[in-house]
Amino acid sequence: MPRVSLGDGNMLPAVGLGLYYTPPGAVAQDIVREALRLGYRHLDTAGFYENEADVGRAVRESGIPREQIHITSKVWPEAEGRWVEDGFAAVLDAVNASVAALGTRADLYLIHWPVNPDQRIEYWLALEEAQRLGLARSIGVSNFGVAHLQQLIDSPRTSVVELHPFLRKDEIEAFCAARGIRLIAYSPLARALRLDHPSLEAAAARHGVSTAQALVLVRWSVQHGYVPLPKSVRSERVAQNVDVFGFELSAQEMAALDALDERLFTEWEEWGQLDPTALP
Ligand code: A2P
Repeated sequence: MPRVSLGDGNMLPAVGLGLYYTPPGAVAQDIVREALRLGYRHLDTAGFYENEADVGRAVRESGIPREQIHITSKVWPEAEGRWVEDGFAAVLDAVNASVAALGTRADLYLIHWPVNPDQRIEYWLALEEAQRLGLARSIGVSNFGVAHLQQLIDSPRTSVVELHPFLRKDEIEAFCAARGIRLIAYSPLARALRLDHPSLEAAAARHGVSTAQALVLVRWSVQHGYVPLPKSVRSERVAQNVDVFGFELSAQEMAALDALDERLFTEWEEWGQLDPTALP
């Protein structure tokens, strides 16, 4: 599995396994175990997903040296529905809870969601403290728009957003490119909502992967320099989705896919209606 730079000296496997909506317990453990067996070395979980303990367990039981596996997790103190008084303490608590659940530190911790403006900087400072304390190797943000990123004075090196041909993020991409921020793409398959699009079918057929338009989407992401996190709970799909390093999309195919943007937010749908300059 090729690796890319995170911009802070650390490296990241170029494709990861997304674990949002992967049910906790046996399902999560089995699919992580299978992904590791298939060669995945990058797992993307979050406190909010409630499967951190399963990820930690499957990693331990895999027998693969821990340092060969990259784990991303995310903290989001408000996700429990409580009002956060002291944002700094809440984020450090959330990181500690995450480390306890995983049974190991995560390699990359992210602020899961751009919380209210008054706390955004406090949250970021707490993540920096977590990094100083050795609880996080790298840190970054998730679901941040340009306006949110600007508030952090160019600090993050890594940013995760929903990103696929049907939901381009030109503004965020330009902002991140200018500052060396690595973009990680969640829902790179657009939740499988557009796999029958003719441009995808055509590219898939030309590359002999006609049964897996999903592969074209993952490859599109890799060729853009994003780090896609395709999610599946089925082992045959998990195997398929990472098999993207044996073919290359032509400039023409990339351009055809680039032109498909339709503001298709598969997550947080309502964002499509909101101010696009402030939200991812
Ligand atoms: P399942 O988990 O049942 O395999 P995204 O990564 O964009 O969030 O998309 C995840 C969705 O795409 C899930 O519903 C997943 O279903 C489905 N999916 C994952 N891999 C493939 C594939 N290779 N072909 C078709 N659908 C897929």
